[in-house]
Amino acid sequence: MPDEEKKPACRDTPCEGCSRRSFTRIGVGSIAVAGAGSAVFGYEFLSPNALYEPSPIINAGKPDRYAQGSLTPDPQNGIYIVHGPEGIYTLTAVCTHLGCLTAWKPELGIIACPCHGSKFHPDGVKIEGPAPRPLQWLKTWVDDDGNLMVDRSEPLERREFVRV
Ligand code: FES
Repeated sequence: MPDEEKKPACRDTPCEGCSRRSFTRIGVGSIAVAGAGSAVFGYEFLSPNALYEPSPIINAGKPDRYAQGSLTPDPQNGIYIVHGPEGIYTLTAVCTHLGCLTAWKPELGIIACPCHGSKFHPDGVKIEGPAPRPLQWLKTWVDDDGNLMVDRSEPLERREFVRV
């Protein structure tokens, strides 16, 4: 009789790797993985679904950075800082039509919207296009440390200049 026939079958006696203890370990491990997954998804579900936006107030640096007669685009913050003959003011770069970000065209001396073709003067007044209103002026001031500050959340009803 060959040696293979003398060995007991796995179903008759427990073999290595199929003991009750190993099944218990697999069960406990599965429960631990399921519990950890439930905890992660539960935390995601219960945590507040809030957007954290940056502050609307921008420190634009010292006013002498902006030369007389200049228009300085700040696309990251969506504004233009203009130093005109009456002083410094800030315009939003967001088009009043459907909210596209406009671009300064120095070769033409205008602000243009790439979406539907609205054009604006450097003081925000509309030249042409579907935009219903001029570009909004934003509250601008010099703080106690001498920095030019802009509040993007505070549109002005009338023009105000920072005189430097
Ligand atoms: Fe600027 Fe339409 S969004 S013209």
